[in-house]
Amino acid sequence: MKVTVFGSGYVGLVTGACLAEVGNEVVCIDIDAAKIERLNRGEVPIHEPGLDAIIQRNREAGRLHFTTDIDRAAEHGLFQFIAVGTPPDEDGSADLQYVLAVARSIGERLKDYRVVVNKSTVPVGTADKVREAIRAAQEARGKAVEFDVVSNPEFLKEGAAIEDFMKPDRIVVGTDNPRTTELLRALYAPFNRNHDRMICIDIRSAELTKYAANAMLATKISFMNELANLAERLGADIEKVRVGIGSDPRIGYSFIYPGCGYGGSCFPKDVKALERTAREVGYTAELLQAVEGVNNRQKTQVFEKIHTYFGGKLRGKAIALWGLAFKPNTDDMRDAPSRVLMEALWAEGASVRAFDPVAMQEARRIYGERADLTLCENPDSALQGADALAIMTEWNVFRSPDFAVIKASLSNPAIFDGRNLYDPARLAADGFDYFSIGRQQGR
Ligand SMILES: NC(=O)c1ccc[n+]([C@@H]2O[C@H](COP(=O)([O-])OP(=O)(O)OC[C@H]3O[C@@H](n4cnc5c(N)ncnc54)[C@H](O)[C@@H]3O)[C@@H](O)[C@H]2O)c1
Repeated sequence: MKVTVFGSGYVGLVTGACLAEVGNEVVCIDIDAAKIERLNRGEVPIHEPGLDAIIQRNREAGRLHFTTDIDRAAEHGLFQFIAVGTPPDEDGSADLQYVLAVARSIGERLKDYRVVVNKSTVPVGTADKVREAIRAAQEARGKAVEFDVVSNPEFLKEGAAIEDFMKPDRIVVGTDNPRTTELLRALYAPFNRNHDRMICIDIRSAELTKYAANAMLATKISFMNELANLAERLGADIEKVRVGIGSDPRIGYSFIYPGCGYGGSCFPKDVKALERTAREVGYTAELLQAVEGVNNRQKTQVFEKIHTYFGGKLRGKAIALWGLAFKPNTDDMRDAPSRVLMEALWAEGASVRAFDPVAMQEARRIYGERADLTLCENPDSALQGADALAIMTEWNVFRSPDFAVIKASLSNPAIFDGRNLYDPARLAADGFDYFSIGRQQGR
């Protein structure tokens, strides 16, 4: 089948590459010419395990193409996927300008029947806006070619995106007619083999399903962080509480890890956008407001602990920082807790010596060269000359470090662990001042 994907970011690239992998002819288009140039040179602009190999294989097989040519893209695919960004607008609502720009581009060029598949995360009612934008562009040309609009929200997780796309838990398809349901069923058949994962529903419910999923996950995290803060004050250990509640099958163990807050390109903006949508229809989404508020506060927890430890005197201090990405296995630093910590340290006159296994280039892109940020080659070099260590991402490489090296390198034996990687009793025995989330201080 012929597929066009608008937007070659995390979702667009994975979608295009995986659809090509099963034999489809895919054209990926982006307005970022530099990104397309890199892709055409064989470079993959994001870190996503397994993506490079799939892109290379399918480019070589002639099934996957990258372009900035809108005419070519609009002409190519029976399926026109929209996978562009929907960042928060100033008021927190989803900014639909990129989605609607694609819709107009398609409408201006529509010659034959097309299925426009919206994969971007968009508020309820966006399919109607996309349809309107296409219609208006057609009217301006004096042409009326048939098309359908489908909502097909994406549930992939950065860091495991290929696996999630190839073996999805579910494929949610929101349509308003059986023809498009069947076309999507055929397109997704290779990913839907051992049991039916397609959930075919109406368009508005599909649009809301994506927000509901992310808001639920964000709620679990903020709930645990709220409990962690209570546990700290009550002399309890949140990790023991976690196991105690996770063993209840109605609660389960997944996604109940306390930490330094959620980040990334989805949860923060989607919780905000859903809360904003609620407001637009005259409903106050109190729970969503609290989820966001708890998370914003949680992102400052590690800084607060460092600030207290040093008696508020951070000027001239150097903090080693392990982990910049918002979670392991990605280089994505959008809304990452590490950024809140770094920016708070800088505001107090401290400097940061940071290491991340894959996000160093992204940090350089975001912050550029600055005297108070040293990007270090490995975890050990980040410790050199530092006064304390902070951990903000639970990369495997940080899980079992040589504590003797850490102790010998730091001028204070202090570890601020935003991900609860270590055993407080062991660190106390080793002579560390160990501060984690929702547990008692290690010494
Ligand atoms: N990243 C995730 O884990 C994830 C998961 C599920 C859903 N989503 C949703 O998918 C959407 C895309 O997210 P992303 O992380 O891939 O974003 P991204 O920022 O990585 O990529 C978006 C791309 O779209 C391009 N673009 C913008 N306007 C364009 C246009 N008119 N034509 C062609 N390309 C255009 C941008 O240049 C950019 O390369 C968002 O709505 C997001 O909420 C993201």
